[in-house]
Amino acid sequence: MNVINVAIDGPSGAGKSTIAKAAAAALGLTYVDTGAMYRTLGLAAFERGVDMDDGEALSVLLSEIEMKIEYIGGTQHIYIGDRDVSADIRRPEISMAASRVSAHPQVRTALVAFQRELAKRQSVVMDGRDICMHVLPDADVKIYLTASVDDRAKRRVEQLREMGTEADFDQVRADIEKRDYNDMHRETSPLCQAPDAHLIDTTGFTLEQGMDAVISYIKEKAHVL
Ligand code: DC
Repeated sequence: MNVINVAIDGPSGAGKSTIAKAAAAALGLTYVDTGAMYRTLGLAAFERGVDMDDGEALSVLLSEIEMKIEYIGGTQHIYIGDRDVSADIRRPEISMAASRVSAHPQVRTALVAFQRELAKRQSVVMDGRDICMHVLPDADVKIYLTASVDDRAKRRVEQLREMGTEADFDQVRADIEKRDYNDMHRETSPLCQAPDAHLIDTTGFTLEQGMDAVISYIKEKAHVL
């Protein structure tokens, strides 16, 4: 089987997961959401009171929680043991926990190995922060997807509203800026645009326009699809 790998990086709230998921569905590839893995460890640390500044403790926790991924009808579900945590990991306090636990090299090494294994076995659209440069440096297609902080905060507020949570715009915007800072300034694999990644800025785009831009670039680049 000819495996095709599409790597998409970008900051929080750029629409990466929605767009990557739609692109995977349109092109018949498997969508792998790597942020969900860091979120799951963040959730476990948050619930069990594990120190999020202690990389060793987090790496022990990761080996204990039996994180599992399943694809049901094209949607990624993530588990701690038998518990499906796919909804719980979207809570705002877990976003910050994910950003904190993701800074530790011990955590990243283990999760990156898992992500590479997934991409070896099947054709994927994988999104995250370090996919183009570090996880899949040989990916067939590389995209850096971004948008202005204001646009990203607006979208996050709408997303949370759809999930039944009213959020304050200024608070969401401040959280996004703080996470951007953390993700771009950590020592291990900080978020940045890979030199060979194609920039797609979705500021002012509707979701459909963002999806079209990404899907047409993937089609153009990976002619086999
Ligand atoms: O994409 P997301 O918002 O679900 O990611 C949650 C956090 O995980 C984010 O703050 C940064 C981190 N992350 C990472 O460091 N590397 C990845 N490949 C994916 C996410």
